[in-house]
Amino acid sequence: MTPTTPVSRLAAKDFVSVLDLAPAEFDHLLALAAELKVRRARGESSPQALAGRHVAILFEKPSLRTRITFVIAVRELGGEVIEPPPDVVFGGRETVEDVAHNLERWLSGVIIRTYAQERLARVAAAATRMHVVNALTDEEHPCQALADIMTLGERFGSTRGLKLTYVGDGNNVAASLAHAGALAGLQMTIASPKGYELPATVVADCARVARHGATLTLSNDPVAAVTGADAVYTDVWASMGQEAEADARARIFEPFQVNRDLMAAASPRAVFMHCLPAHRGIEVTDQVMDSPNAAVFDQAENRLHAQKALLALLMGKG
Ligand code: CP
Repeated sequence: MTPTTPVSRLAAKDFVSVLDLAPAEFDHLLALAAELKVRRARGESSPQALAGRHVAILFEKPSLRTRITFVIAVRELGGEVIEPPPDVVFGGRETVEDVAHNLERWLSGVIIRTYAQERLARVAAAATRMHVVNALTDEEHPCQALADIMTLGERFGSTRGLKLTYVGDGNNVAASLAHAGALAGLQMTIASPKGYELPATVVADCARVARHGATLTLSNDPVAAVTGADAVYTDVWASMGQEAEADARARIFEPFQVNRDLMAAASPRAVFMHCLPAHRGIEVTDQVMDSPNAAVFDQAENRLHAQKALLALLMGKG
């Protein structure tokens, strides 16, 4: 079946950052994701954009949502998934570049979850034919951000001018959300404890690509930042790899917990968002997680639809 939204290829070979998308590609990808979601709900099959193609999933960190949604996405687009043990690939048996040169002889694409973004960049640079997708690094989580903007669009009709406040660590999720928010026209505030703010490079990149009146403000005051917000977003206080800092961070981040009192400062229609997994009772309370305004499982569902659109546009047959 032919989708009503024409499927054209993305200009970039890889998707390692939201910033790899031109503004029109960002819009097109989200429109295709919405269309694929409707088709799936109707029981219709997806375009077989990856038929005859192999895609590897290489994750060096745990995953529930990202792994499952990418496996389903590849299969529903007609492709084959390979999941080699990550230690065989990145365990130091050979250089990252030699791994990339091998993989691209067999695969159309590789979906990688790793630590430093620099490792992902090395694979992408060494592989001239194979597409590389960022499934989370220490610095960015761009696939999550696509699903988040899709979710906001569903909830509010349009993302332009929406006031979204992210409360917590200026981490990889916050960085990609800020990138996507700049392209989506969000009025975004990121409230973090001193010393845990969004990196200045991310702020500068957002200013460079901002459109539709998008703004980005950093704050150290969670209540002021949330006041009047249409959406309140948080993430864990200690990301994967920071487990040893968890106790210290719990003390520092305590005033930034998203609870009923903090949500009371937001708009009465405000949605609560979290990329998951959530640490209930730590960065968010049960009352907020289980409230009707929580969009967290919509975000999780939309990982599938957004990533299907991404794979089709990045490495699919036209
Ligand atoms: N949000 C997210 O990336 O979830 P997983 O770590 O379970 O993949």
